[in-house]
Amino acid sequence: MSSASSQTFPWRTEQEANGEAETNAELYEHFASLVASLPSSKGMLNPVYRHDQGWHAPMDMMVGAMVADACFTARPSDIIVATLPKSGTTWIKSLLYATVHREEHPVDDADGHPFNSVGPHECIKFLEYQIYSGGKIPDLDKLPDPRLFATHVPFVALPRTIMTASCKIVYVCRDPKDTVISWWHFINKFRARAGMDPLSAESAAELFCDGMSGFGPYWDHVLGYWRAYLAHPEQVLFFRYEEMQRDPAAHVRRLAEFVGLPFGAGREEDAVVDAIVSLCSFKHMSGLKATKGGMTDTSSGALENNSFFRRGMVGDWANHLTPETARRIDGITKAKFKGSGLSV
Ligand code: A3P
Repeated sequence: MSSASSQTFPWRTEQEANGEAETNAELYEHFASLVASLPSSKGMLNPVYRHDQGWHAPMDMMVGAMVADACFTARPSDIIVATLPKSGTTWIKSLLYATVHREEHPVDDADGHPFNSVGPHECIKFLEYQIYSGGKIPDLDKLPDPRLFATHVPFVALPRTIMTASCKIVYVCRDPKDTVISWWHFINKFRARAGMDPLSAESAAELFCDGMSGFGPYWDHVLGYWRAYLAHPEQVLFFRYEEMQRDPAAHVRRLAEFVGLPFGAGREEDAVVDAIVSLCSFKHMSGLKATKGGMTDTSSGALENNSFFRRGMVGDWANHLTPETARRIDGITKAKFKGSGLSV
């Protein structure tokens, strides 16, 4: 196996470590006034703005995405995790980080692994929520290869150098019904904190179906990456949460191969794959101290790491959505995905 260079965790640029991260308030203000001029609608928590490209996001995240597009320079060795919120981002980040860094952070030493100190969202940061947020324009040049980043933006809104530099993109999608239910639970925590009434599952589903969920419409997001995968299978990997649940080890092997760090045959390598699966399992990750007590800094404030873990199962939607709403969502999915070769 070729080795990945070591990366400190949670990584910070040299400037940030010295307390002198570069900022560009003017650029952020420029994009903020651009976003403020776009049509907006009620979202699940905050208003969402409609980008000219047809996707929706709250102000800070859309500004972050625009700054990332303007300032991020990709390297061919970069690996980008792309997902919609609540579709398994935390899980795929853990699997990717543990796989890429398996030499310097052996997974059979579960007690010494970085996941004991920091959450997956600190190990692989979001471009638009964490890296390009709060006026910062960090210098990412000194980060060692391979740099691992994440994003929730649709394919059409990816910082343009990601495709031109031929970076690898790992996409995960999830059944829209489970995605919206996961989102609904997540958002209600923040609504409670803001003194807002809880949203009903049906109202959340209504907003979701209308495309008013962050980085939605869901269907355009999934189709964008699906088509990119069909057109560039060497550059885009397309996983489904449900299939990952059915056979996580096969997915770890595919992931490793895709990023150019394949596992070999034989029992020893199988054992490492199995150790990665266990390390990153819902059961193990949700029980860690870094999950129970840790926080992740984002442009929406510091989020508790445990807010990214709830039940981690397939089909929980059936406990919350009426059969009618479930049929409505399935109907939209069928119509939107017709002829694409994609089903979820
Ligand atoms: P539920 O709310 O259905 O439990 P994201 O990471 O994109 O925000 O998605 C969060 C969802 O993924 C939550 O789903 C969460 O419980 C689940 N999840 C988090 N870590 C997981 C893991 N290691 N394995 C499986 N599911 C996980």
